[in-house]
Amino acid sequence: MDQTSVCADGYEFAAPDSWDHFSDTVALAYGGYDAASAYQDVLAAVFEPQRSLLAHRGGRTCATLAVYSLDMGVPGGRRPVAGISYVTADPAHRRRGLMRGLMVRTFARLYERGEEPVAALHTTEPAIYGRFGFGSATRAIHLRIPRHARDMTHPHNEPPLPVSVVDPAECVPDIARIHQGAPDRRPGAFHRDDAWTRRALLDLPERRGKAGRLLCVLAEDRDESSRPRGYALYSLTARWEDSYPRYDVHVRELFAEDPLAYTSVWRALLDIDLAGAVHADRPVDDPVLALLADPRSAVPVVRDQLYVRVVDLGRALGERGYAAEVDVVIEVADTDCPWNQGRWRLRTGVDGGDCARTTAAADLSLSAWELGAVYLGGTSLKQLAAAGRVTEHRAGALAATTHAFHHDPAPFCPMLF
Ligand SMILES: CC(C)(COP(=O)(O)OP(=O)(O)OC[C@H]1O[C@@H](n2cnc3c(N)ncnc32)[C@H](O)[C@@H]1OP(=O)(O)O)[C@@H](O)C(=O)NCCC(=O)NCCS
Repeated sequence: MDQTSVCADGYEFAAPDSWDHFSDTVALAYGGYDAASAYQDVLAAVFEPQRSLLAHRGGRTCATLAVYSLDMGVPGGRRPVAGISYVTADPAHRRRGLMRGLMVRTFARLYERGEEPVAALHTTEPAIYGRFGFGSATRAIHLRIPRHARDMTHPHNEPPLPVSVVDPAECVPDIARIHQGAPDRRPGAFHRDDAWTRRALLDLPERRGKAGRLLCVLAEDRDESSRPRGYALYSLTARWEDSYPRYDVHVRELFAEDPLAYTSVWRALLDIDLAGAVHADRPVDDPVLALLADPRSAVPVVRDQLYVRVVDLGRALGERGYAAEVDVVIEVADTDCPWNQGRWRLRTGVDGGDCARTTAAADLSLSAWELGAVYLGGTSLKQLAAAGRVTEHRAGALAATTHAFHHDPAPFCPMLF
């Protein structure tokens, strides 16, 4: 499909020339804020105009959709995933089908060009994207750990590593190095080149609200190299209660190369003077819950996070890794990607899968939404069947396929895109 096409009511869909061309409409849709040029430069550096799409009419841009080429961890290793972002419509052109037009054109282009077989996005409102076959694929727990609950079990014979607090700009190469293994360790994380690392560290005063500037705590080797092995990016918001300081520590991200470095970073965060509590969005199986002497104090709240859409079913399921062998026929309903519609035979082993069309009777039936939800291994097919979203036609097929798709550790996307 050509990117440039005109729909019935005169909107033309085409690739933007540049980030500037695109960002004015985005700013309007998100509330019309003025962003500093430094911020725009960082966003422009990761923007891929030739992969993105906008709708315009009469010389005016009315809707936008950005596509990023992400190298994301999925079960079985890193794979190309189309990261979708900045889905917006100008307030004067809403509810006329522009988002739908952008979305179905993007799916068709990915499929026809043989690009990424899977798309993923974060959403401002969870109710928007299910209709396009995006299933809820990763979850985060929001933790609020009071400082008084900082007692940790002592799994290591060694004392915690020494830590230092620095401006993140001083340790960009260390942050990039420690982060680089993240997509191999957990589905949902993606590789960050220099431009994406800069975006991860973006810290403009006008976007901080009441928080202070972004800081970085490093856990370092004990020897004279002081080589960092773990870090957290965080900021502090001043808060007082009854004349006592109860500052909030907001953790943006936390990565470590090994358990001792990981524990040392958490200890440092929970020991910040003036702090009342540490707030962080973490994977549902984050080890910190196994470290706190009082895990109940962390008040974990689960919420949806990354949404995934299987665009090219045969390739997506064939290229994914599996936890067990299964031989199953899946009947798929998919109106927005009609090439996925029908019956597919999936045969998996621990080395990968093979997925091809079949005329055999279906063992399971489901829709694109459920496929997207289970793709990263964090949502259970059995759970979806119990909710009536998946139907089992052959006894045993559901349990076996659920087991094959499961991934441990749980998927988690540590960064918005
Ligand atoms: C969300 C937004 C992009 C929708 O654009 P739009 O062009 O008006 O959407 P469409 O007309 O193509 O609507 C397609 C479908 O989505 C539904 N929909 C649109 N916005 C929705 C919302 N916020 N919540 C739930 N459903 C929504 C429509 O009702 C329609 O449903 P249907 O398929 O049952 O008819 C637009 O309202 C917007 O820019 N919002 C502010 C920015 C934003 O939140 N973007 C999302 C970023 S993740």
